[in-house]
Amino acid sequence: MTVRPVLKYPDARLSQPCDPVGAEDVSALIADMFDTMYAAYGRGLAGPQIGVMTRVFVMDATWKDGPRSPIAVLNPVIVPVGAEAEGEEACLSVPGVSARVIRPATIDLQYETADRLPRRVTLTGAAARIVQHETDHLDGLLHWDRMSPGARAALIAEYEALT
Ligand code: NI
Repeated sequence: MTVRPVLKYPDARLSQPCDPVGAEDVSALIADMFDTMYAAYGRGLAGPQIGVMTRVFVMDATWKDGPRSPIAVLNPVIVPVGAEAEGEEACLSVPGVSARVIRPATIDLQYETADRLPRRVTLTGAAARIVQHETDHLDGLLHWDRMSPGARAALIAEYEALT
């Protein structure tokens, strides 16, 4: 159980796609990822944010406002359902700025649990947004890559002015 350093933009690993999780034991990795996410006061953390280039993330959509609801997700597959919604997103790898991102408001998520059991859930609200944000990390995308080119450039400039 270790809090690991969180990589920050423009670390190159944050823009690289990740490989599927294979048969390896990921239990220690997932424990570290939860420790790191909670220590950083985040609601989600993806493998590449700690330099692990496999398709794994952890999330907890509720803990800032209520009880904890930790979920570890391996090899996610997302199918959007219905309309899109705009929402505010922060990212531990881009501290100090937030992005307004339009995404599907509801998704079907297929994934494997830490015990390698297949799961399928329908998510909406904050949980759906977090899953999409974290899955984007596994594809080498940050929140601002989902914005218009002008809005993206403005947000990167805002971030760079802070660092
Ligand atoms: Ni992020």
